[in-house]
Amino acid sequence: MLYKNILKPLMFRLDPEYVHDRMTRNGVMLGDHSVTRAAIEALYGYHGPDISRTVDGIKYRTPFLLSAGFDYNGQLSRILPHIGLGGEEIGSVTARPCPGNPKPRLTRLPKNRSIIVNKGLRNEGVDKIIARLKSTPRESVAGTGFVTGISIARTNDALSVPIDKGIDDYCYSFERLNRADVGDYYTINISCPNAFGAEAFNDPKLLPQLLGALKAIPTKKPVYVKMPINIPWVQFESLLKTIDRFGLDGVVIGNLNKDYDSLEIREEAPASYQGGLSGKPCAHPSTALIAKTRDLYGKRFTIIGAGGVMSAETALEKFEAGADLVQLITGMIYEGPGLIKKLCTAYAGQSGGTIGA
Ligand SMILES: Cc1cc2nc3c(=O)[nH]c(=O)nc-3n(C[C@H](O)[C@H](O)[C@H](O)COP(=O)(O)O)c2cc1C
Repeated sequence: MLYKNILKPLMFRLDPEYVHDRMTRNGVMLGDHSVTRAAIEALYGYHGPDISRTVDGIKYRTPFLLSAGFDYNGQLSRILPHIGLGGEEIGSVTARPCPGNPKPRLTRLPKNRSIIVNKGLRNEGVDKIIARLKSTPRESVAGTGFVTGISIARTNDALSVPIDKGIDDYCYSFERLNRADVGDYYTINISCPNAFGAEAFNDPKLLPQLLGALKAIPTKKPVYVKMPINIPWVQFESLLKTIDRFGLDGVVIGNLNKDYDSLEIREEAPASYQGGLSGKPCAHPSTALIAKTRDLYGKRFTIIGAGGVMSAETALEKFEAGADLVQLITGMIYEGPGLIKKLCTAYAGQSGGTIGA
């Protein structure tokens, strides 16, 4: 109520990136003190029946994760466990720092319940983020089943555009993270729609080169691939085949929607492409791809469903389609942090929490 009736109307008058940076600073402050953590837990924590899930050997206290792109510098890991989340995906992180694309990097489309995202992988770079995560006190997180995934992308600059340099770039971050033993799982983001070099590794001919190089780096953690949602099914299927062949653990389905014509209210968006769409326009394409992937591959892949989870209903659709875990960002921005507790409660109410298990 507080968020939807007071905070959100105020925040939605301000620049989205400014609001995001302020919210991050507030989140860091709230996470720094046991009293504020307890207050947030009392307001937003989930205290219902056990809905924990174990996926690829990792226990998630709830099956809902914050998707990559919100806590891109890994600053919020002390507060996020207190709003009902079972984990978060930090990043995407890149080998070198990225300042982001020219502004505007975020544009709200409230009628479509979406955001145009043109962030260009703004982040401080993998080394600084590793140092931060290593030095963050984890007493409020340890042993609670709050999972830290880390999304890895290619640095958004001209240096990483040649394919061999792009592969080196991913490998640098992957190797550094593994060597530092930071993160519980890793996601290889091959589907950022707004960066130098575009989505080169969505090409089924190039993905084997990337996965082959990554496979040579020892890891004890599950590795997933973040999938695009606007490519033809034959291409998607051939990426899945490659991911299977290289023995990766699963897929995150999926990234932003590039198709402005899929918007319910087309006039709200600019005439030409200015970044990928998050939120509601992602819901149907991602859920359909989750269902097709589950049909084709059975339990071979872990599937993390993301895209347009704005309500309990849309979250449960992802599990019914075959997702093991569900991620979200835009729903939390539009509905507030209280949404996560609602999702957990609805999930617990469905088959005693065994839906999709
Ligand atoms: C502000 C913002 C930044 C994002 N940045 C990333 C990113 O760095 N890496 C990534 O894999 N996905 C990124 N995404 C995509 C989300 O992780 C997610 O796949 C997509 O937004 C669909 O989920 P949603 O509808 O719940 O927002 C970003 C999304 C938003 C809204």
